[in-house]
Amino acid sequence: MELDESAPTSAQIEALARRIDRPVVLVGMMGVGKSSVGRKLATLLHLPFVDADEEIERAAQMPIPEMFERFGEAHFRDGERRVIARLIDGERKVIATGGGAFVNPETRALILDRAIAVWLDSDVETLLERVGRKDNRPLLKQGDPREILTRLRDERRPAYEQAPIHVFSTRGPHSRTIGKVLKGIEAWL
Ligand code: S3P
Repeated sequence: MELDESAPTSAQIEALARRIDRPVVLVGMMGVGKSSVGRKLATLLHLPFVDADEEIERAAQMPIPEMFERFGEAHFRDGERRVIARLIDGERKVIATGGGAFVNPETRALILDRAIAVWLDSDVETLLERVGRKDNRPLLKQGDPREILTRLRDERRPAYEQAPIHVFSTRGPHSRTIGKVLKGIEAWL
């Protein structure tokens, strides 16, 4: 994959990968690109990639919208907390979490203690554009997506801000964001 010219070289990425001794966990709002960025980051670092939402669906044997509809958000959050605790097992990997995961104090404490937390952030316009590509987010069906995203982003900011690495993802290719994530991890290690 082509990275930005200011991004680390492949030799630098390999050296960085050797220094990573715990999971890298991507947190941030829905639509910011945690899964796409996470998958590409894992490939570059030669680490396994895990999407926490997919793991929750696998464990519950049910898609997330159905979980919300049949059992409610609290039930989903409980499953989310348990699945993430299982995923943080000391192994090196890249984990993309659902937008609400890091808001849970228990999950946040676990990630901050045992992983490298990266907050992927972007403005509401970019989030809106990206969430529009999929129709699988129950929280956005509860009203006007722009208002919901704006409110959730404000409410969740104090939690996301606790991640030691903050990367702003602008519109355009994810490769630029990945370069910034690599630099952020490098500076943090
Ligand atoms: C949620 C985000 C979703 C998913 C669920 C709830 C949230 O994940 O976990 O719909 O509370 O922000 P993505 O952030 O991957 O969309």
